[in-house]
Amino acid sequence: MSKKATGKSDSARDKLVAGLQDDLAREFKAIIQYVIFSQKLDTARYMNIADQLQEHAHQELDHALAIARQIDYLGAYPTHVPKPVEVSENNEEMLWADLRAEDDTIQNYRDRVREAEEIGEIALAEIIRDIMKQEQDHQIDLATALGVVPDQQRRGKKK
Ligand SMILES: [Fe+2]
Ligand SMILES: [Fe+2]
Repeated sequence: MSKKATGKSDSARDKLVAGLQDDLAREFKAIIQYVIFSQKLDTARYMNIADQLQEHAHQELDHALAIARQIDYLGAYPTHVPKPVEVSENNEEMLWADLRAEDDTIQNYRDRVREAEEIGEIALAEIIRDIMKQEQDHQIDLATALGVVPDQQRRGKKK
């Protein structure tokens, strides 16, 4: 590592921006899946969670706006490309697709908080923490509807 201190912090900043772009792409994916699945869940058993998914859709839009704002603040142009969207006609598969996406999102936001703090972007880390609280609520809603444990680590291999 012969890089100067500023070089290191520049690359840490670039890594943070790249991570946030991925986060934004995940938020777009989440919006799309929740918009569709909230309308397509069609068994009486899942009517309650369908209403919750509609709520999630609104919150994911708020997250996308917050992340895009931070990307702009860091001097980059926000992505317009969502992560690949998963679709299904099967009620349980829809919920699993959403739950896997929330697991992935939470894992990534944990990394982002660390990366932001490492370069002194404390306010950004706070904003991501607030978003993570809602993602964990989403995870709980989905896991509860599916009858599994919300914490991914304790959920085991069950698909
Ligand atoms: Fe989100
Ligand atoms: Fe979410």
